[in-house]
Formats: sequence, C-alpha cells, structure tokens
Amino acid sequence: MRRNRRTPWSRQLVAENRLSVYDLIWPVFVIEGENKREPVPSLPGVERLSIDVLVSMTEDASSLGILAVMLFPCVDSELKAPDCAEALNPDNLVCRAVRAMKATCPGIGVICDVALDPFNSDGHDGLVRGGEILNDESLEILCAQAVVQGMAGCDAVAPSDMMDGRIGAIRDALDTANLQSVQIMSYAAKYASAFYGPFRDAVGSAGSLKGNKKTYQMDPANSDEAIREAALDIQEGADMLIVKPGLPYLDIVSRLKGAFALPTFTYHVSGEYAMLKAASQKGWLEYDTALIETLLAFKRAGADGIISYAALDAARLLAGRHKH
Ligand code: PBG
Repeated sequence: MRRNRRTPWSRQLVAENRLSVYDLIWPVFVIEGENKREPVPSLPGVERLSIDVLVSMTEDASSLGILAVMLFPCVDSELKAPDCAEALNPDNLVCRAVRAMKATCPGIGVICDVALDPFNSDGHDGLVRGGEILNDESLEILCAQAVVQGMAGCDAVAPSDMMDGRIGAIRDALDTANLQSVQIMSYAAKYASAFYGPFRDAVGSAGSLKGNKKTYQMDPANSDEAIREAALDIQEGADMLIVKPGLPYLDIVSRLKGAFALPTFTYHVSGEYAMLKAASQKGWLEYDTALIETLLAFKRAGADGIISYAALDAARLLAGRHKH
C-alpha cells in the first residue's frame, strides 16, 4: 500500500476525492448600519456585517471563486414579536441585503434562510402558542416569508424551520407569485443539536429561546427518520437537500446521497467551527490542516458542497496550495 503514497505527485494522482472552492457556500450574518463589522465572541474570526461591508466582502468571496452566500439577519430586538411580522416586511434587513448583493454582484448565488427565529420574540422557528409550536399556522407565514425573499431577488430559499409540509407549501406559494425559478434547498435532515449555540449568539436568539426545538427538529438518535424526511421534501419539490450539523452526521449525508442522488449539502455548523477555532487558538490543533481535512471528509461522505463559516479561509488556502 505504501508505494502509491510515497510521493506527493502519486498521492495527488490517486486521490479519490478533492476539495475545491466550488464546494463552498459562505454563511453570513447581516446587521443594520453602515461600515459595521461586529465580532461574534463565540465564533472567532466571524463578524456580523452591515450591508455595505457584506457587499464588498461578497465581491472578495466571488473573486476567490465562492459560488454562493447564505444570509442570516441579526434583527434588532424591538422588531421581534410573537407574530414575526418583520419576516414579511419587503424592506426588512434580509431583503435589503439581497437587493444590494444582486445589484453589485449579480453572478453570486444568494440563498435566504426560511425560518422565523430571527424575528420571533420566542426564538422559535415557528409560531408558538401556549408553549406549543403551531405547525400549520406557521406554514402560512413561512410561505409569505419565502415569497418576500424571492421578490427581493434571491436565487434560492433554504427552509430551516422543520415544519411538516413546508416544502410543498413554499413551492406552491413561490409558483403562484411567479417565482418558479427560485430553487428550494431544503434542510431535510436538521437535528435538534447542541452545536447551534454560537449561531444563536450571532443572531441574538439565544437569550429569547424558550425551551428547546426537539418537537420539530430531529432526534440525534435517528437515521431512518432522515430518509423519511428527505423523501417527503423531495416529493414536495425540494431541489437540493441539506444535512445539519456536519461532522457528527456524515452517515446521514452518505445515506441520503445514496438513496436519492439529489444534490446534497452539509452544514458545518457554528459549534463545529467554534471547536476548531478554540482548539487551534490554544495551540492544540493546527487550524489550516484540520479545516481542510474536515471539509474533505464531507466530500468523502458524498456531499456536493459544504456550508461553512470557514469558507473564506478554505478558499484562500485552496488558492495558495500546491504543496499538499
Ligand atoms: C434556525 C437556524 C439555526 C441554524 C441555522 N438556522 C439554529 C437553530 O435551529 O436553532 C444554526 C446554524 C449554525 O449553528 O451554524 N433557523
């Protein structure tokens, strides 16, 4: 076995999987204001960006070869309410960000998250009454949210809310609004995970979240259930699938890709990124190599691409690498 591994050229030649900049989707946090960059303490190296800064960083990302950006708004707390009305405001932070990005960088894919948590004073992804998540009532507002984002010009919507029946409802709503070409990238298998902590800090939903999301997000114990979730989403019109979180769920990526052969993405989530950063800041891991190994592992598992806060870091490393 060692002969093929002996030299760099030979290792490259026999490599079964390769990571490229085209595999990377960059998730970003947007804030109000101008010329603002706010560090997120639990995500070292990640900043919340005002729209103008986001636009100029998107141009940099695009020139590195990154194909798509995923937007997450950090909404002022006065705008959060139990009815999540701000999610439907065609002039809300996300919609303004989409328009600005499309005006300056039309070629980059802009993907909007569909879920109510950034707008909900309860911090939940759906509407809440008496401690219960209201699945069917939530669908209506999620559909309207997707339409507002589609009208603003996003290329794809990514429903991360995990309400039952949302993909079909959103597809119908988009089609009715003459937004037939907006893609749906479904979080088909999204687990109720402890690895979302730093994300909730970043969008400011950590403090407001009442209870947990276990009644609508998946149980980490389950794998067959992911197949049923994905089958429903595909039947309802999903164009692409997401598995979330990433590394602890490589088996799910592999099963979904094998079962459905749909474009399948993995979300290297905030807690995973934070672990890498924290350990490397302590000198316990080498960030660059651990990052590339992590991203490559997603490819090996069958992912078509990876949503990662480290997308820009990885893009720069890939651009400068000839030595691996
Ligand atoms: C919620 C949403 C979450 C993430 C993306 N969309 C958190 C949650 O479900 O509470 C987490 C992403 C991450 O941790 O990086 N709609």
